Amino acid sequence: MADLSVDLGFRTLKNPVITASGTFGYGEEFLPFFDLDILGALVLKGIFLEPRPGNPPPRLHETPAGLLNSIGLAGPGSAALQEIIRRLHARTAVPIIVNVCGENDEEFAEVAAIFSGLEEVAMLELNISCPNVRKGGACPAQDAGHTARLVRQVKDRVRKPLIVKLSPNAADIVAVAQAAQDSGADALSLVNTFLGLAVDLETRRPVFANVYAGLSGPAIKPLALRLVREVCRRAYVPVIGMGGITCGRDALDFILVGASAVQVGTVNFRDPAAAARIVSEIALEMDRLNIKDLAEIRGKLQA
Ligand code: SIN
Repeated sequence: MADLSVDLGFRTLKNPVITASGTFGYGEEFLPFFDLDILGALVLKGIFLEPRPGNPPPRLHETPAGLLNSIGLAGPGSAALQEIIRRLHARTAVPIIVNVCGENDEEFAEVAAIFSGLEEVAMLELNISCPNVRKGGACPAQDAGHTARLVRQVKDRVRKPLIVKLSPNAADIVAVAQAAQDSGADALSLVNTFLGLAVDLETRRPVFANVYAGLSGPAIKPLALRLVREVCRRAYVPVIGMGGITCGRDALDFILVGASAVQVGTVNFRDPAAAARIVSEIALEMDRLNIKDLAEIRGKLQA
């Protein structure tokens, strides 16, 4: 039987499959579909200090093999999320990761400090890469200097492991990754969505009020895989790879280029039990290829 466990250095996961922020609600919604304990971990939908309505509709638009979203990080705010986490933790032992957001650096640090203090929370993921908050898709992860300052400020306020989620829309994602790890990130997760555009020929207007939106799904997998490989070649902290994973083989591809674990996102909308299926498929695929331990293939791409 293959060993799917993953040692992140600061924590061991039973397997590399983590559900991605914004695609798995607050966990509770998925309890009817499978036993969440099957997962390596889950990331909750991003959270700000206060409740937030998000962007006006439409918020989703399908593309061939992909999904554009412009949700705008709608959420119930930190106080309500603490209650949700307590309820969720009472029903599952899966490690819970809080996706931390902020309108500015101080808010990021404040939200991170709140959830760092919650014993039910295993780790924090700093969402510095959402393209749907500011017009034009700007976010802190586009700039290495801003990323460094922000990560240091947050690290000063937290005791839990800090994952920093990077943007594929940065001109130099490797430089931003380096800034994040040098500033104290315990792990990196990438990639968030690619900035895209959908237009309506009838109205001659963009589909989304914010004009640009974030593209995810199978369409981005080869692009994401390249960026994960580039970052892994320089990273000295664990990397969590994501982008268009729909099956166990996709997940193993990210591990082959150096990822320690993976996040599964858009496929959860099509198949709410996809993450559980992917855990089984990884095990089957490892048996088929006679891989006993994920370390045998991690970063072993021969190129
Ligand atoms: C959104 O809420 O608009 C997407 C979240 C993200 O890209 O981080």
